[in-house]
Amino acid sequence: MSFRKNSGQMELEETIRNPGYKDAVDGGSAADASSSGTGERRDATAVKLDAAADEYTQVKPYAGMPKEVLLLHSSRARYRVPREILFWLIVCCTLALVAVTITIIALSPPCLRWWHITPVYQVYPRSFKDSDGDGVGDLKGIKEKLDHFLDLNIKAVWISPFYRSPMKDFGYDVEDFRDVDPLFGNMQDFEELLVEMHNKGLKLIMDFIPNHTSDRHRWFNLSRTRDPQYKDYYVWTDCDPAFPKPNNWVSIFGNSSWTYDEVRGQCYLHQFLKEQPDLNLRNPDVVQEIIDLISFWLEKGVDGFRMDAVKHMLEAAHLRDEPQVDPDKPPELVTTEWDLYHDYTTSQVGLHDMLREFRAVMDDYSREPGRYRFMVTESYDYEEVDKTMMYYGTPLIKESDFPFNFYLLDLPQNTSGWWAKHLVDLWMSNMPSGKWPNWVVGNHDRPRIGSSAGRIYVRAINLMLLTLPGTPTTYYGEEIGMENINITQSQVQDPAGKYNVSLSRDPQRSPMQWNSEKNAGFNTQTNNTWLPVHPSYETVNVEVQNKDEGSVLSQYRFLNGLRQSELPFLRGWFCYVLSDTNVFSYLRELDGHKEAYLMVINFGRGPSTTDLSAVKELPDELRVLMSTNTANNQKVFQKSRIQTEAGEGLVIRYSTYTRFHPNHPAQCYVSEKACYLETVGILYKC
Ligand code: GLC
Ligand code: MG
Repeated sequence: MSFRKNSGQMELEETIRNPGYKDAVDGGSAADASSSGTGERRDATAVKLDAAADEYTQVKPYAGMPKEVLLLHSSRARYRVPREILFWLIVCCTLALVAVTITIIALSPPCLRWWHITPVYQVYPRSFKDSDGDGVGDLKGIKEKLDHFLDLNIKAVWISPFYRSPMKDFGYDVEDFRDVDPLFGNMQDFEELLVEMHNKGLKLIMDFIPNHTSDRHRWFNLSRTRDPQYKDYYVWTDCDPAFPKPNNWVSIFGNSSWTYDEVRGQCYLHQFLKEQPDLNLRNPDVVQEIIDLISFWLEKGVDGFRMDAVKHMLEAAHLRDEPQVDPDKPPELVTTEWDLYHDYTTSQVGLHDMLREFRAVMDDYSREPGRYRFMVTESYDYEEVDKTMMYYGTPLIKESDFPFNFYLLDLPQNTSGWWAKHLVDLWMSNMPSGKWPNWVVGNHDRPRIGSSAGRIYVRAINLMLLTLPGTPTTYYGEEIGMENINITQSQVQDPAGKYNVSLSRDPQRSPMQWNSEKNAGFNTQTNNTWLPVHPSYETVNVEVQNKDEGSVLSQYRFLNGLRQSELPFLRGWFCYVLSDTNVFSYLRELDGHKEAYLMVINFGRGPSTTDLSAVKELPDELRVLMSTNTANNQKVFQKSRIQTEAGEGLVIRYSTYTRFHPNHPAQCYVSEKACYLETVGILYKC
């Protein structure tokens, strides 16, 4: 059967007898519709339908219905209304489902990635483990010691630079970013190390130095000979060879940041050593080179970068003098970074855009599951907290996962409870919402905190590091309480210490103390180590401390275990409870989770009794889960009399559903909505 239009009329070319249809019409369906008087359009439809129905009374409305008749039927109220109801129901349900999904994601706790969960461990490769006995640590040495990280439940290892380098700044002066220095091994050693680390579930974070290269880098040699491609790869300016100071800018290592180059007949800028010329990152070709290098290592499978000295990446193009801190100081005495306000050599406009570009490259390599590439930035902005926080990016534009938080390095300035709280709060109260905190208590640039604060605080500092919210960073040796070595002028290796031994960074770079054998097990084949081993190595070493349940190492392991297994530590609320001359006390709790934790840490000079009876959310009796003084483990205190010795830290576990944070919102922080931001992350690219 088929219909064709004929002057608005329908003709049936072939008739099919169908009594069912007649019944339906008789039953009143078509006739009722036309006589029900529900509007002209419907009447017209009904009339048409009647016309068709009159002519073809035997055709059922549902069996083999031709299109036009079907349309006539379907526009009738009895079909149309349910259909429209159904349609809107589906639309509403879909919208409701989307809304519920977004709400659930927005309200759910953050998705924790590997770098949220594990501490970051910094390996200074010269000093970690020497596999070939030449006195300097190497990549094979690191590979031999991977189980140390597993023993401690540490899954992320940042290795300071091992690129080919003349070693003027021990690897932070890179001659070839695509090669491994022979001192540390070769590319195959690197690849084997990476495979082995990944097999063991460990992540490898590279150090990356975007601000400068070595003066032996190929680019610099081509730049000083004015090769057309490379001539603007560095920051060059005309200057008087007899007085090569085109302006008053100073290097971080002291004296002018300009050096005259005989070959080119101009001065070049170096914010660090003269052997570390600053790259001209205003040149898009240089930025592209950096991106290519980042991609090179991402291709190899590294899991992230620690971006070195980022605030120095751009300088003001006008090269004007920076203002002096003391305007009356004779200009020739302006020689250190502290003499100037660095308005033109640090944190210049464009810096964050560039880091975001690097981040976007890393994001391209982060799409596969389990392949997130992590970025941490290094920038000492001292108390200009807002500048540091900018490296977090904005809610919609990602930059680093976190900028290193160096504030705890200032703890030795004033070991006291309130100072510890002040330093912690400097970060917590300034961090943009939705971001993740982190804590550093030592690195290759700063004296070991155990030496500057005092050995008695070593355990307490580790306890704080591992119980604060966010990612802890541990510099090699801190897990066993290693201290600075003493360095005489003749032993100085660090260029920063060549002029002034007190500025040398060698004391905190001594060989890792593995055991009580020769050279602390750093190497076994020679008597030579590039820096002396600390004399305490026979007791302060991994092997001895592994056997001692009360050692610094065992406590580190316990606290890191607790941190990773107990949700309140990973994603719970963090609330200040008290701080005074001696004690810093805070708690960690999670909604709906019965177990909560109270930390009481004595950073003072003597014993202290802390009265927390005013804190009604705490039970009256508090049992110590762990004390840095093992004799006090399991001790029970009345909350009005919690006793601690100088340098003692307590972790107290208590059970209650009464939460502290609802009553004290101004004292509390919680990590926020990371999942939601991840979800909209997909929009970043648009
Ligand atoms: C960073 C490094 C430091 C190095 C400097 C220059 O601050 O941590 O060791 O000397 O950059 O690259
Ligand atoms: Mg620079």
